[in-house]
Amino acid sequence: PDRYAVIGNPVAHSRSPEIHAAFAAQTGQSLVYARLPAEIDAFEATVARFFADGGLGLNVTLPFKQQASEYADTLTDRARHAGAVNTLARQGDGRILGDNTDGAGLLHDLNDRLLVDIRDARILILGAGGAVRGVIPVLLDRQPAALRVLNRTPDKATQLATHFADLGPVSGGGLDEASGGWDIVINAISAGLAGEMPPLADTLVADAIAAYDMIYADAPTPFMRWARAAGVTRCSDGLGMLVEQAAESFAVWRGIRPATEPVIRALRPATQ
Ligand code: ATR
Repeated sequence: PDRYAVIGNPVAHSRSPEIHAAFAAQTGQSLVYARLPAEIDAFEATVARFFADGGLGLNVTLPFKQQASEYADTLTDRARHAGAVNTLARQGDGRILGDNTDGAGLLHDLNDRLLVDIRDARILILGAGGAVRGVIPVLLDRQPAALRVLNRTPDKATQLATHFADLGPVSGGGLDEASGGWDIVINAISAGLAGEMPPLADTLVADAIAAYDMIYADAPTPFMRWARAAGVTRCSDGLGMLVEQAAESFAVWRGIRPATEPVIRALRPATQ
């Protein structure tokens, strides 16, 4: 059967194999999807071997998304803007296409499942790492009223804002800020993964109609708990984004977009 995989370091805990197996079953596509671990300095060699052996497509996760964008022969617009690739696809002529479906995944989850409108919204993003770079161009494309990025290292946030300034109203600052009036607050601070959030001013979420954590976990994340305590009713972790970006990748490879809702439901622990 056709072969796909997720490459990363570490990759043992990736849920992509079960997600794509569910998509394949649902759409009646014959394929296998594996985990492909790579040494930190062996990304290129590992990818080259995978495609030389007949593999058709890869998802790329930490810490290889920027290397993947250099590896690809051609890039989609959204991957070029992001400077990061999470999907590699071997084309009919053997060339490797690089795409980035992370932003589309977030957008689908916000729009379709949580019913949050981006247009004219005032959006706050916490964190300025690789994940944020992937979603900014896609969010700006939907014409929010404002997009502000706050980061522990403020320079990284202002650099991102400068990089994307041509695409829309984006600005950067430090996490010690206490501005208010944000409709949507999105977390991309990776420390939340380890169960901790840095201290943040409650005013940041005080007016929000939705709080979204790009991280997902088996229990409400520290960011979600903080936003709930500050009165935000629509709080979500990033499981939906994970499944949505996978569905976009599946569509790039197979030309068919699977239904995401049943897969999100199947992955969500019964306790939530
Ligand atoms: P990802 O690809 O998930 O975005 P990353 O590129 O390593 O991962 O980015 C991690 C983000 O979490 C960064 O914005 C980082 O802030 P710095 O740029 O200042 O490093 C943020 N982060 C990680 N740990 C943090 C902590 N303890 N407090 C505040 N921010 C933190």
